[in-house]
Amino acid sequence: MATRPNRNRSSAQHIGSILTATLGGIAQFIWLTLVGIVSVFMPVQKKNVKNEIVLVTGAGSGIGAAMAKRFASLGALVVLWDINSETNNRVCEEIKAEGGRAIAFTCDLSNKEEIYQTAARVKRDAGNVTVLINNAGIITGKKIYELSDEMIEKTFSVNTIAHFWTIKAFVPDMISKNHGHIITIASGAGLFGVPGMVDYCSSKFGAIGTHSSLTLELEANGSTGVHTTVVCPFFIDTGMFDGVRSKVPHLLPILKTDYAVDKIMGAYHSNQSMLLMPRILYLFLVMQSIFPVKASIAAARLFGITTVLDGFKGPRETRKKE
Ligand SMILES: *[C@@H]1O[C@H](CO)[C@@H](O)[C@H](O)[C@H]1NC(C)=O
Ligand SMILES: *[C@@H]1O[C@H](CO)[C@@H](O)[C@H](O)[C@H]1NC(C)=O
Ligand SMILES: *[C@@H]1O[C@H](CO)[C@@H](O)[C@H](O)[C@H]1NC(C)=O
Repeated sequence: MATRPNRNRSSAQHIGSILTATLGGIAQFIWLTLVGIVSVFMPVQKKNVKNEIVLVTGAGSGIGAAMAKRFASLGALVVLWDINSETNNRVCEEIKAEGGRAIAFTCDLSNKEEIYQTAARVKRDAGNVTVLINNAGIITGKKIYELSDEMIEKTFSVNTIAHFWTIKAFVPDMISKNHGHIITIASGAGLFGVPGMVDYCSSKFGAIGTHSSLTLELEANGSTGVHTTVVCPFFIDTGMFDGVRSKVPHLLPILKTDYAVDKIMGAYHSNQSMLLMPRILYLFLVMQSIFPVKASIAAARLFGITTVLDGFKGPRETRKKE
């Protein structure tokens, strides 16, 4: 909306105020960049999680189970969601046997109604979730023309759209208390295209977009106590990607689950917004942005990215598992 400058307010004053705002913004940008760089080298004050209620989707296996166990070992109450009741209950029993607090719910993350219903049960039985870990994910590992329409939609339902339903169910409570954390387990495949993973990559690009925009909405809302973290790993040795090998294991290793959990917990404690692992992915991200596309593809070939799925056997557990 164009407003006519007020008679009392000369255009010089107008320009002055724009200049002040611009310089202020630039100063803030430089200051926050320096703070960000320095904070990388500062010891992190760990958060006390004893009063947190941590929901992990896809908690029955892989990185989800490992994250649930870690949070439980630190004293949090963990809420486990998985479509596979058997593995989910097993993780729940294992946590309790170690003296942790856990409660398991069977939930199909591709089903919106089931998510909302389960969320209502969680609020009733456990309380308001304060740490939401959107982790559940599925992978087909098929080329785009080999994928059935249903599988493509399912991949998006679980890997991307489910985040909307859990965010809508739990984040308003976090905002009202100005306390909470949303952790999105995305993937390096959400930053770089990978052949044989068109569905998976697209869904993870979507999850990263959800994280980035949610972060800005929380910022605009003034919810300074509600943090977000997106995690973009290369492959982790959880069994989801059985048979995948790195061509250059020293530069681009298949990550160990414990290492990945340590890094994610570090990002949680320090309110880090984006975590890429291994670290060389940060370099890839910069390279992808500044080098010609063909040069980037040549580099991807060198690192074996273009053939990375060649040994892929499919997920160790059934594909329906979240
Ligand atoms: C959960 O959060 C809502 C606000 O969104 C609040 O009214 C309610 O009392 C909270 N419940 C508990 C158990 O803290
Ligand atoms: C922040 O979000 C809450 C919950 O959605 C909403 O009620 C509130 O009006 C928002 N505040 C601002 C300043 O946007
Ligand atoms: C992370 O956020 C919490 C809650 O807003 C805050 O108490 C803590 O100081 C923050 N930690 C760091 C390292 O910024």
